[in-house]
Amino acid sequence: MNNEENNKGGELAEILEEGLEESGDMFGGELMSVLQESGMAKAIAKAVTPEMLLRSTKKMMWSMVRYRELQMMYNCALKEIKTKFEVLDSEFEARYKRNPINTISTRLKSTESIVDKLERYGKALSLENIINYVNDFAGIRVVCSYIDDIYRIADSLLRQDDVTLITKKDYIKEPKGNGYRSLHLIVSIPVFFAARREEMKIEVQIRTIAMDFWASLEHQLKYKCEAENRREINEELSACAEIIASTDERMLALRRRIESAQDMPTEEDILFERLRKSIL
Ligand code: GTP
Ligand code: MG
Repeated sequence: MNNEENNKGGELAEILEEGLEESGDMFGGELMSVLQESGMAKAIAKAVTPEMLLRSTKKMMWSMVRYRELQMMYNCALKEIKTKFEVLDSEFEARYKRNPINTISTRLKSTESIVDKLERYGKALSLENIINYVNDFAGIRVVCSYIDDIYRIADSLLRQDDVTLITKKDYIKEPKGNGYRSLHLIVSIPVFFAARREEMKIEVQIRTIAMDFWASLEHQLKYKCEAENRREINEELSACAEIIASTDERMLALRRRIESAQDMPTEEDILFERLRKSIL
């Protein structure tokens, strides 16, 4: 190695060591000290040419840009599907004087959860694998008032000719062992950008207020639960889910009873009928 190359190696070693120092937290500090103690930081730096370093930095930055763009695209898909649900809610309200949807929330999956999921699936971390295997990058949760609203809303969504159903899991008809209930759909919808149309996948969770109440608390509790009393807690959670499910059924029956009472002819109806008869 000539002098010039040696200098480059030295410079690179400094850059690498500086970089490792800056990213100390990310690497837990441990890796950095091992590399420094063993002199490997300098050895690696000598093996890496500036061109290689530039190429890999460019590649990494380009991936970051594409990842940000993917986030923007999934965000737009969420806006589109949220509007679809809002339209259904407004139409229903105008027709039946009540709102089937209580709340709608959306979220983009965190980068950390995406990395975990791909690792669980045994897939390499790449944008293509995120698109192909992470079906819940964009998620929307629609909380309905009554159980029948869930199916009415889901059917109305799936009847739309730009909505494609990919998978459906009905955890209401077949609750999970712990008592979890919800209707899960993976759908794809087209999103129109300036120069292209993209089919974007979205995870849709539709549940009642009561199911949502149970799922939110169960989600918090499962991380706090110690291993030794887990069985007992799970049994109690499942018992609560049963009570909640039967309350949902009773509230629905109550609404139907009230609605059928409202179907009795009003004074206006009776008067209108009399008028009609006198005219005919
Ligand atoms: P994930 O890998 O967790 O996304 O599961 P999956 O791909 O098998 O899909 P599934 O339809 O079973 O669950 C998707 C999502 O539903 C989860 O990410 C949770 O938000 C929710 N969910 C599923 N099971 C439970 C549960 O037992 N309790 C709670 N609180 N939420 C659940
Ligand atoms: Mg998920």
